[in-house]
Amino acid sequence: MDDPLKQSFLKEIDNIVSFQDLINLKAKYVGKKGLLTEKIKNLGRLSSEERKIQGKALNELKNFIEEKIKNKEIELKQKEISESLKKEIIDITLPGKDYYFGGCHPVNKTLYEIIDIFREIGFTVEEGPEVELDYYNFEALNIPKNHPARDMQDTFYVSEDIVLRTHTSPVQVRVMEKKKPPLRFISPGKVYRCDSDITHTPMFHQVEGLMVDENIAFSHLKGVLVFFLQRLFGENIPVRFRPSFFPFTEPSTEIDIGCIICGAKGCRVCKGTGWLEVLGAGMVHPNVFKFAGYPEGKFTGFAFGMGVERLTMLKYGIDDIRLFFENDIRFLRQF
Ligand code: FA5
Repeated sequence: MDDPLKQSFLKEIDNIVSFQDLINLKAKYVGKKGLLTEKIKNLGRLSSEERKIQGKALNELKNFIEEKIKNKEIELKQKEISESLKKEIIDITLPGKDYYFGGCHPVNKTLYEIIDIFREIGFTVEEGPEVELDYYNFEALNIPKNHPARDMQDTFYVSEDIVLRTHTSPVQVRVMEKKKPPLRFISPGKVYRCDSDITHTPMFHQVEGLMVDENIAFSHLKGVLVFFLQRLFGENIPVRFRPSFFPFTEPSTEIDIGCIICGAKGCRVCKGTGWLEVLGAGMVHPNVFKFAGYPEGKFTGFAFGMGVERLTMLKYGIDDIRLFFENDIRFLRQF
């Protein structure tokens, strides 16, 4: 047993306080040219009897030293952790970070409000595809190819027969093809037009409405839409119906409300008129019933469509539609 070597190792390891010293110590004793390594190398010079005895003792010493070094390393690591924990005291008097909950987008808020109002009077909700056949977006709505009415909406064409729907009206035809009257539903969703300025965006939301049965009259249209506008903007909101044109309704109307920004006195938003257009509507054109496969003359109905961004701008007094799509958290947090 090589006692002096063991004794000197034990003395030295006791004084080790850093990882670097430990690495040096390891090299000094059991490294490539370490004291113990040299002794092991020299075993070859001994007689076989001696080699056996010394070999065993040196191997035991090597294991002993390596074990001690490993333990020391653990000890140093633990010391390092507990010292850093002592330094990193948490100051619980510091103010915490603010976390904000995500909220409902103002356009969705208006959309849900619209759906709730129509649900109250028995309307259900139907949906249709955003990538739509030209047939449903135009032809079945009485707008044949090359008809000048196609210019009313700037269309994104996917191919000659496929478009991004420019309005939610195609859902009217899709539902009528599948269901027989009485029908009473709204259809909310995204629509697309090649259009961009402070009141127009390439993607926006519409809510379509359709009511079909025997003996549905213009008075039903008026009753439903006045009820809706009074619910959304308050009992006292002035409402007026103006004659208009849509190829899929006859007669057609556009509906205005008294400007809520200026109290109907006339301002920049209402262009001095005191009125704001909020809805397009009319009695379903007989040709649309024909495309849907309904028997001629049996049913009548009314349809309407509105822009949800436009209604949200009016509700909250927002004068630039693009704010809805910029994702500026300072804007969105106000709702
Ligand atoms: C239509 O889209 C008809 N389908 C509505 C309709 C349905 C009439 C059923 C009759 C019967 P119009 O093109 O006017 O109509 O669009 C309706 C509303 O969408 C507009 O009043 C406006 O509020 C909104 N709108 C139109 N273009 C844009 C746009 N680029 N960005 C934001 N809102 C828009």
